[in-house]
Amino acid sequence: MAAPDPGDGAFAIEVDGTDQSPLGMPPADFLRDYWQKRPLLVRNAFAGYRSPIEPGDLAGLACEDGVLARIVRHDRQRDAWTLETGPFPEEKFPGMPDHDWTLLVQDVDKWDPDIAALLEHFGFLPRWRLDDIMVSFAAPGGSVGAHVDQYDVFLLQAHGHRRWQIDAGANPPTDFRDDVELKLLRRFHPSHDWVLGPGDMLYLPPGVPHHGVAEDACLTFSVGMRAPSSAELLGDYVDHVLAAADDSTRYQDPDLALPDDPARIDAAALDRVRQALDRLRTDPAALGDWFGRFITTYRNAVEVAPAPDLPTPAETGQALAAGLVLHRHPYSRMAWHGDGADTQLFANGEAWHLPQADARCLANARVLDAATVGALSPAGRACLDDLVQAGHFLLSGDGD
Ligand code: SIN
Ligand code: CO
Repeated sequence: MAAPDPGDGAFAIEVDGTDQSPLGMPPADFLRDYWQKRPLLVRNAFAGYRSPIEPGDLAGLACEDGVLARIVRHDRQRDAWTLETGPFPEEKFPGMPDHDWTLLVQDVDKWDPDIAALLEHFGFLPRWRLDDIMVSFAAPGGSVGAHVDQYDVFLLQAHGHRRWQIDAGANPPTDFRDDVELKLLRRFHPSHDWVLGPGDMLYLPPGVPHHGVAEDACLTFSVGMRAPSSAELLGDYVDHVLAAADDSTRYQDPDLALPDDPARIDAAALDRVRQALDRLRTDPAALGDWFGRFITTYRNAVEVAPAPDLPTPAETGQALAAGLVLHRHPYSRMAWHGDGADTQLFANGEAWHLPQADARCLANARVLDAATVGALSPAGRACLDDLVQAGHFLLSGDGD
């Protein structure tokens, strides 16, 4: 192991990965000491890593309808930044300069199963916390400027070299430049400066200023998280609660005492307001039901829809028996919640009550074969039929 950089107090900021752990430590230690707390550079997190995609594949993807792609260019002389959004025409890329630009494409895990396979290494996080893998290609000198993100990110260097500078200090300045379309930092004082090569990975919690500049033509994979703001949570939950609210649940004051001043709102009145709110918002079953629907919908760029030529449940059964498999739709998001018989499976905002074993199986499955489907209970099987009809699972070959 490299001599650890003392970093933040007792916590090394730089460690070496091992074959068993791309975090360079047991995942429980990472969660305790680094997750949402401090940055970590893991050298050789994925030793000998070879990118499953080439820059040309990324450029091709950036030309497809429905793909979220951006190009950021930097004019060094004027320190001017430009942002263009895709999809881009195919003629765009051969004409690009050989320096100082970056192409960024979101959700590449949804388009490329080899990129999606990387997510298997992040099983130490709840799956519903993971958002997407964004892939960037940068020509030498290419960068998106110094900035902060609101989400945790794991930046895996997949090809070539990128110089990362970060400010790991407490309370860094986070005011933005007002002369650029991008949210770039006005002031950036890096405390650490590293060059990452293939297989190295930098973890950043939200709010850590960072700046990555390509040393040579390079590919960087950003495994990004989802974290709804409290305002988004409250807004959606209130809508959900209001939809079922009973108008007779009201402010009540059977204990009313003579007011010392009839114009005053006293502390007892505010307690009663709190109670009136709590009567609507404190049912834990309702909270779980709402959150499962909310989080499996949140920040999902594409709606899952029934495939053309949907098989009937009987045809699905026959196809499975003949050796075909069901593949999960790349934009299908599932999670489960509850105990024992009172378990709910969520898929993109919809919910099913199921035995827990079925909910666990369906929520975790990327591929279902006849044996796995055969082990589902009748309720699980009926739910799977619904999921197939809604497009969450596609018979092998259907969705390619
Ligand atoms: C990049 O890949 O160029 C930018 C990633 C980031 O800074 O979050
Ligand atoms: Co960033």
